[in-house]
Amino acid sequence: MNHIKTKFPENFLWGGATAANQIEGAFDVAGKGLSVDDVIERINPEERDKGLHLPFPSSTEIRETLETEEQRHFPKRYGIDFYHRYKEDIALFKELGFKAFRLSIAWTRIFPNGIEEKPNEAGLAYYDDLLDELLRNDIQPIVTLSHYEMPLHLSMEFGGWANRIVIDHFVRFAETVLDRYKTKVKYWITFNEINSILMSPFISGGILRDQVKEGNVLQATFQAAHHQLLASARAVEACHRIVPNGQIGCMVLGMINYPNSPHPEDVLSALQDQHKTFFFTDVQVRGHYPSYMNRFFAEHGISVNKQPEDDAILKNNLVDFVSLSYYMSTVAARPEVSGEQAAGNILTNMKNPYLKASDWGWQIDPVGLRTLLNMFYERYEMPLFIVENGLGAFDKVEEDGRIHDQYRIDYLKQHIEQMKEAIGDGVDLIGYTAWGPIDLVSFSTSEMSKRYGFIYVDLDDEGYGTLERSRKDSFYWYKEVIASNGENL
Ligand code: BG6
Repeated sequence: MNHIKTKFPENFLWGGATAANQIEGAFDVAGKGLSVDDVIERINPEERDKGLHLPFPSSTEIRETLETEEQRHFPKRYGIDFYHRYKEDIALFKELGFKAFRLSIAWTRIFPNGIEEKPNEAGLAYYDDLLDELLRNDIQPIVTLSHYEMPLHLSMEFGGWANRIVIDHFVRFAETVLDRYKTKVKYWITFNEINSILMSPFISGGILRDQVKEGNVLQATFQAAHHQLLASARAVEACHRIVPNGQIGCMVLGMINYPNSPHPEDVLSALQDQHKTFFFTDVQVRGHYPSYMNRFFAEHGISVNKQPEDDAILKNNLVDFVSLSYYMSTVAARPEVSGEQAAGNILTNMKNPYLKASDWGWQIDPVGLRTLLNMFYERYEMPLFIVENGLGAFDKVEEDGRIHDQYRIDYLKQHIEQMKEAIGDGVDLIGYTAWGPIDLVSFSTSEMSKRYGFIYVDLDDEGYGTLERSRKDSFYWYKEVIASNGENL
């Protein structure tokens, strides 16, 4: 058998990905309002291994939180101070050879409470400077419009995305930034991991526990998901209208669900889990609700309230590419079979005996990435973009200040090899932005000790440190990967 040798395309977008709320800090600077992330407390380390940690607070709990004086319990308010240090950090990205950098624009810097008629000029000017700095360094910005960053006011006053009114507020924000940065940004992403709302009603959807009618959380989250899908379609329309040659994609948490055994009902369970991811991409790529959801809605007492214009909005505004995060795979079984649960941040299920896991118990599965890319590409025949992938691990700083993170190199190397195989399979893959190229605050646990970076940041879980940046071994490795366009792994 001849083994075909595949290469990454010449213009492949190598780089790194972040989110404003996990790096910027400066939560109360230059008119910024509070977002849902600013009220998330750091996890107690003893809770770390006990499953998912997705907060679902009530409005009373949020009010109590807002009265707490102990700011340091809320690491996302401080991030890694990228807000003030972005020039230094972009210089390091340039040294790495980045072609692209994925960032999000904090909604609350532009519309502090989400409802203002006019944007906050200081917030817009900040991103002008940041984007210019990227362009000066020949780094293509990839901008996510919404990465878990809803203004807290929209959550407290309107019930978050469960309320249709939020769509118009979001579209005003989207049109404002699309217009302002239309000559600087070509690639846009609407909602980060839009499928995460099913597990994370508050951070992804701004829904508070006491706002859910009759305790029917699933009903509220699917209604909110419908509003996000409409908002995403309207952002697609706005991008195509406003940004010359703009490309705008959807983004999902990419999860592959294996059946626990060849038992036909295990296979069916895995398919049904997979549908919960495909539902979101199907709507945004094909422009309508897939029929498999009808049965799911009927069996779970869900009735999504749609307006007459909704079908046309979804149908007429299709995305240009599909982007995804990929960290792990999971296993599904028929309901009567139970097994040990694997860890993860948003979606997970049973443990896979064939896989090793990260320091945080996430199952490492490079081949799963190849399979998943094939599944997406067969389904849509549309460009794919991996906009997050990486290993969250404890790093040790040696006495000479160096960090030997061979485990991170191994993880990334194995995943990049499988991307190459997927390209050989015929997948149109346009880029790869590794998650957290510089250590940042964890989304799910708000820890600093869970590090993803090529660049180390001297900051601990309590918020102490010099914030100094230094290069890990993986820095030099990734630089060579980019310089050789994926040939030297
Ligand atoms: C993704 C999110 O789910 O995973 C990122 O889009 C997040 O925001 C990343 O940081 C890694 O998860 P965590 O919980 O380890 O930070």
